[in-house]
Amino acid sequence: MGKGFFISKGVGVLLIIVGAASVATIIALSVVYSQEKAKNNEVSPTNEGSTTKPSTTTPTPSNKPWDQYRLPKTLVPEHYNLTLWPRLKPDNTTGLYIFTGESSVEFKCVEETDLILIHSNKLNYTKAPTVVSVSGGVTAPNIKKHWLQTVTQYLVIELEGTLKKDHVYRLSTEFVGELADDLGGFYRSVYTEDGIEKVVATTQMQPTDARKSFPCFDEPALKAVFHITLIHEPGTVALSNGEQKEPSFNLDDKPVIETSFDPTEKMSTYLLAFIVSDYDFVNNTIDTVLIRIFARKSAIAAGQGDYALNKTGPILKFFEEYYNSSYPLPKSDQIALPDFNAGAMENWGLITYRETALLYDPAFSSNGNKERIATIIAHELAHMWFGNLVTLRWWNDLWLNEGFASYVEYLGADQAEPDWNVKDLIVLNDVHRVFAVDALTSSHPLSSKEEDIQKPEQISELFDAISYSKVSECIIFTSITYLNEFKFGNTVYTDLWKHLQDACDNTGQKLPDTVANIMNTWVLQMGFPVVTIDTVTGNVSQKHFLLDPDSKVTVDSPYKYVSKVNYDQSNWDKLLNILSTNHTHIPVINRAQLVDDAFNMARAKIIPTLLALNTTTYLRNEKEFMPWESALDNMNFFYLMFDRSDVYGHIQAYLQKQVTPLFRHFKEITRNWAEDPKGHMDQYNEVNAISLACKTGLQECTDLVKGWFQTWMSNSSNNIIRPNLRSTVYCNAIAAGGAKEWEFAWEQFSKANAIEADKLRSAMACTKEPWLLNRYLEYTLTPSKIRKQDATSTIVYIANNVVGQALAWDFVRAHWTYIFNEYGGGSFSFSNLINGVTKRFSTDFELQQLRQFKEDHSETGFGSGTLAVDQSIERTISNMKWLEENKSIVSKWFEDAAKP
Ligand code: BES
Ligand code: ZN
Repeated sequence: MGKGFFISKGVGVLLIIVGAASVATIIALSVVYSQEKAKNNEVSPTNEGSTTKPSTTTPTPSNKPWDQYRLPKTLVPEHYNLTLWPRLKPDNTTGLYIFTGESSVEFKCVEETDLILIHSNKLNYTKAPTVVSVSGGVTAPNIKKHWLQTVTQYLVIELEGTLKKDHVYRLSTEFVGELADDLGGFYRSVYTEDGIEKVVATTQMQPTDARKSFPCFDEPALKAVFHITLIHEPGTVALSNGEQKEPSFNLDDKPVIETSFDPTEKMSTYLLAFIVSDYDFVNNTIDTVLIRIFARKSAIAAGQGDYALNKTGPILKFFEEYYNSSYPLPKSDQIALPDFNAGAMENWGLITYRETALLYDPAFSSNGNKERIATIIAHELAHMWFGNLVTLRWWNDLWLNEGFASYVEYLGADQAEPDWNVKDLIVLNDVHRVFAVDALTSSHPLSSKEEDIQKPEQISELFDAISYSKVSECIIFTSITYLNEFKFGNTVYTDLWKHLQDACDNTGQKLPDTVANIMNTWVLQMGFPVVTIDTVTGNVSQKHFLLDPDSKVTVDSPYKYVSKVNYDQSNWDKLLNILSTNHTHIPVINRAQLVDDAFNMARAKIIPTLLALNTTTYLRNEKEFMPWESALDNMNFFYLMFDRSDVYGHIQAYLQKQVTPLFRHFKEITRNWAEDPKGHMDQYNEVNAISLACKTGLQECTDLVKGWFQTWMSNSSNNIIRPNLRSTVYCNAIAAGGAKEWEFAWEQFSKANAIEADKLRSAMACTKEPWLLNRYLEYTLTPSKIRKQDATSTIVYIANNVVGQALAWDFVRAHWTYIFNEYGGGSFSFSNLINGVTKRFSTDFELQQLRQFKEDHSETGFGSGTLAVDQSIERTISNMKWLEENKSIVSKWFEDAAKP
């Protein structure tokens, strides 16, 4: 093979074609410039478009301990006794749903103090707290005064004397809280079954909402043992992290049940869970571990828990072997909740899911739904060790937790479904996803400084693509000794490097530098290096890959860039030639990667845009999913930039030409669309074929989906559309139809199960009627119409539609205060919202609007979306420049390429 060409980190092209590089070498090549991050932080707020840190820590008004977001290091909890009683019916007088609680926590004083600070948020105390001494020899001082410090979320107790070092004390409290429908802390989820409205009391503690259900030392390093009791009505089931003890039926003659649970392992507060419901379950036992899947009765009766049940055992076994450590609990419960903010949550022994992430039904679920269930189960089970048994010391190392789980979820899912080749998808799903964000200067380094992450919204902001996906390229998954040394304890990322180093030393593996040095360049700085290799001279060079090569990273590099490398056009010519004549000579994954690399490098102006576009001309002959998916991901950017301009027609014509053979191919192998293709990836690509064919206006496609939808409309109890195809068929039929189609979809949505409802919900955003889109936007603020958990993603679906884009942006601005208060503190959904409604932005006018938006709300800020606002501004600037340089040549290219 020829001389030299470009690779990005971790890319397989070089490995396959040259066949010489090793993974270690690729990591070594990533050593660019360290210390970048420390300097990244010194940028003024007006300097958008260049580097900014995640969000600033506003100086606290005083130096008082209760004005600090971090707990003082004076007290360490040992165990808690907690009783909670959620009321599943509203209070007669107030109409509010509430829970009451009694808690006592025993803690050791490790530094003499006259102050007890314990986290508490939105709890009202119904009795004065008491403090007693538990260890002999001292008595506890009296309480001088106590109050709630709402900003920093503490119950503050000032004492008349001091707590003595090395003594244990007990703080007891009684309190009441609202069981609100706010998806955080102890909250309520509501659904209708057999015409009856049912309420589930459930929890979501991560990252900082345990303090919303009981007073606790709510930091991940403050692990303790929890003795939990739940009070609930007969006919309901109570669940928590531990196994339940025998229920005792009379509680002061009240008609309620008291269920106590075995004490937990020593664990962090964010992993607690308490649930009361009238659910059913299916169960089995693997070795000695009891596995149960809980869901609403109708779902269990329909067998929708069976797939999860069947796959959990094998995945659990796989991780036991992988970690060389047996599952530490006697039971593993997993439960599907109608209202749930994230996709799933790894509470130790009681994993919570949104319904679509756990329940499978062959009559409704697509292969994509099934894959998501397998991978999400694997992801959360992976946390049972990595995250739960061994826990990060503080949230700045969140990426260690989430990034690791996001990598090994593929290994677990592969175990569950070996025929799917899901490991191949790592490149598509994670590498591409993170690449798009990490190539902005407003990205953030994987590992932040502990002191930079303090407030709840700063913690929430860390749950983003970088933390989740960047590790998948790191080779950090061999450290078994690490788990053993730190089990029931906490770590910082450097502990992992030390163990990796030992592992390499022991096996005699030679690395070009210490593991710490190699890995730190990856985690302490943002961005990617682009590595250029001249395979003849052996010369290697690299630079910081940025989507906008002109944007300023305001840091000096201690490493000087060496540009000695001349890009070799003949190499690309050879590759393009192979693609167009004999594409199967290049392995499928590498075809996908080649396309993706070309587009990324074109964005960074390392190669011309037209050269990247040239990698798509061979697609007429391509039948495989991975390269198509890679091309479509990149074409999506062209759609975003051009679907409101005259270039659009040329793109449509070109892509219709490219996709038509693929559409015909699937028509043939599915016997005129009658059956699913055999392979998992082929099933995905069938959807791509229909989606793109219909999107580009291929008449045969539009007729097909309209016909199917009409058939369903004429007999709503008989939907013959294959589950794999439903999302795209609904979307394209609604796009081609009008109010009648939309209203039918809405009616079906309102009575559908969660799996079907999700497909309709995204499809309803496809209509071209502005008034329908506007009305749909309004629905997202009414939880009885669109569940709160789905509000922001629905708005983003609408913004994805070229007709809905401006409507969604106007809507978000008009309702900003409400949206911010409802969702601003939450997790990734909020940054997704901001990025989602602005991703087409590419004009000066849009940039002004965005800046105005930032300014208008600078007072309240953007909570967990702070980074997203800066990323959006930077992305808009980068898009504007790109359009200026590329619009006319790209338009011409598509026009020519569309010709027969
Ligand atoms: N710990 C997270 C869930 C979470 C995220 C809780 C943010 C609170 C704030 C969980 O392990 C997770 O990562 N869930 C993912 C699924 C996974 C397959 C990427 C999710 O919810 O989407
Ligand atoms: Zn996770």
